Amino acid sequence: MSRVDKFNPLAKGSAIDQKRDELRGGTSGKASIGEPGFAEIKSDAIRFGLATDVLYPMSAGKEASIYLALWNNHPIILKAYRLWATPHKLSMTKGHIRESSGKKTRWILGFLEDIAVKEFDILDNCFRAGVRVPTPISRVANYLTMRFIGDGETPAPQLREIELEDPEAVMNEVFDQYLLMYRDANYVHGDLSAYNILWWQDHAWIIDVPQGEPVNKWSDMNKIELILQRDIHNVLKYFESYGIERDPEHILNVFLDAFIPSNLRNYRELRKEGMELL
Ligand SMILES: Nc1ncnc2c1ncn2[C@@H]1O[C@H](COP(=O)(O)OP(=O)(O)O)[C@@H](O)[C@H]1O
Ligand SMILES: [Mg+2]
Repeated sequence: MSRVDKFNPLAKGSAIDQKRDELRGGTSGKASIGEPGFAEIKSDAIRFGLATDVLYPMSAGKEASIYLALWNNHPIILKAYRLWATPHKLSMTKGHIRESSGKKTRWILGFLEDIAVKEFDILDNCFRAGVRVPTPISRVANYLTMRFIGDGETPAPQLREIELEDPEAVMNEVFDQYLLMYRDANYVHGDLSAYNILWWQDHAWIIDVPQGEPVNKWSDMNKIELILQRDIHNVLKYFESYGIERDPEHILNVFLDAFIPSNLRNYRELRKEGMELL
């Protein structure tokens, strides 16, 4: 049984196994998966005990759809990973995945579950470290639920949608939050931008973390540095529209001074020439 499923009171075996069995439908290993419709997602979420109702889709990104759901009248967010609906990296190598063998279906569902597990774990670790992220609630199969950031049924706006009164203070807050995530939860975000920061109750909330990478003694610090650079660049790009200029190299060094796993401290000296371009 996978990590979070064991806490699911409704689980009969792993939920992803039940879903796989259902998809295989006893058809000698053949199964087809199409784009899951709203009705299917809603019934899964209720059956898995993730929500008591699912109201409507709020956003459909490349790999995941976001729904406003309810837990006993309390609004929550349901995020459903659904890779096969889009030409994703995987489907580009394997063809557009709509029809597939039972084995491939299981592999794809397992892959989707892994992304949901990863997002849940990163949210959980960030939340525990005090980073302002939506509190994760539960995760079953390729679905996860988290705190709804917003008022009533109105979601908080993304940073790019609003006009800030004191952009410099907000920029400092965003970097402070990201530094907490990096130094205390030990993750890089991997997709930080004005799209994945919400503005609510005069604070910046970091969301959409599944592209994060853990920073630990097994990490490739060259890769971590590149991800940090890209995230810092994307945040600075947004604040440039307010006429704010900052040295990205200086911010990068604040992060690296705050934390590098002890066995990797001298990664820069060990870097072979040209490696910074990788
Ligand atoms: N916890 C949340 N509370 C309120 N709105 C959210 C929440 N999570 C996501 N959203 C909204 O849904 C959008 C897409 O969610 P996100 O996690 O960024 O997925 P995607 O992978 O599709 O970008 C966000 O930009 C935001 O507007
Ligand atoms: Mg996003």
